[in-house]
Amino acid sequence: MNAPRARIIGTGSYLPEKRMTNDALAKLVDTTSEWISSRTGILERRIAAEGEMTSDLAAHAGQRALEAAGCDPKDLDLIICATSTPDLVFPATAAIVQRKIGAQSTKAPVFDIQAVCTGFVYALSIADQFIRSGMSQKVLVIGAETFTRILDWNDRTTCILFGDGAGAVVLEAVEGGDDRGILSTHMHADGSYVELLHVTGGISQGRPSGFDVKHDALGFVDMHGNEVFKQAVKAMGAVAEEALAANGLTVDDVDWFIPHQANKRILQATAKRVNIPESKVVMTVDHHGNTSAASVPLALDEAVRDGRIRPGHLVLLDAFGGGFTWASALIRW
Ligand code: UT7
Repeated sequence: MNAPRARIIGTGSYLPEKRMTNDALAKLVDTTSEWISSRTGILERRIAAEGEMTSDLAAHAGQRALEAAGCDPKDLDLIICATSTPDLVFPATAAIVQRKIGAQSTKAPVFDIQAVCTGFVYALSIADQFIRSGMSQKVLVIGAETFTRILDWNDRTTCILFGDGAGAVVLEAVEGGDDRGILSTHMHADGSYVELLHVTGGISQGRPSGFDVKHDALGFVDMHGNEVFKQAVKAMGAVAEEALAANGLTVDDVDWFIPHQANKRILQATAKRVNIPESKVVMTVDHHGNTSAASVPLALDEAVRDGRIRPGHLVLLDAFGGGFTWASALIRW
């Protein structure tokens, strides 16, 4: 008997209400709206409200995905949340989401995964393995971030890039029939590059002044943007080609390419490297900014809801982030 295949039966997303324009940023740091839009393609990003947590964004996106799938939260047998900005050190944000969406009675396992901007594609790959092995039947996979909480608003090289948001999918195990579903996933990492993109500070570094409870251990995003840019294009290009080769498909077979939304120029350079026309690239970076683990599912949900992605389409998800980590998922919609 063939292994079950994981099919996406619903997508959802959520953006906080507050918008921050480039003009507003130009009042905070030495930059211009023109510099930001021409170097990154970003025009605005969303900022979570005071008290609005990653789990709130994740729960909203998850509920919308469940509604789209026509799935009761009580039918879920696994919840995975990809985030680098969890509500708490522990427990997992996925546990808080389980309660917020009313799925706690399932007693289904929940966990977070942390692969920064690659997080959602890593989580999708893990969920796919759970379904293929027969361990899970209905899985909620979420990418959610409140990345603006870890920005240094005095650092013009990073604070202009990121935004908050969440995206989610519901996966269902299907057996037999056509090839619709996740065809393959590929995951990679190279820990040689930790310093090029990281958050300063951290739990295991401890509190510098012993038990000073007032000390704020939360660090800031620190990035060598130029080097990250080059590595992102190289890695996302390679993992896209790997996905197509593994399935005996070519770039001409791809209907929609959804790369991590870091910078419009990275998306364009990656598409060019892989030889995918820009008309097939889903771009949301202009109105979302870089939302880290939320970026791919946010873009996916937008393209599903506006009717671009239709049944039978070949969709290639591709991401790159701190670690470095990078991954792809090839999906027959
Ligand atoms: O999510 C996954 C990881 N993140 C990424 O993939 C982001 C990757 N990197 C990038 O998107 C780009 O490297 C940035 C948008 C961060 C920077 O763009 P760049 O074209 O690589 O600029 P640069 O770092 O080479 O800097 C060029 C100049 C510098 O000035 P000098 O040294 O030439 O005088 C910077 O100081 O632009 C300056 N600069 C700015 N100027 C105005 C840097 N940030 C700003 C700013 N406003 N916000």
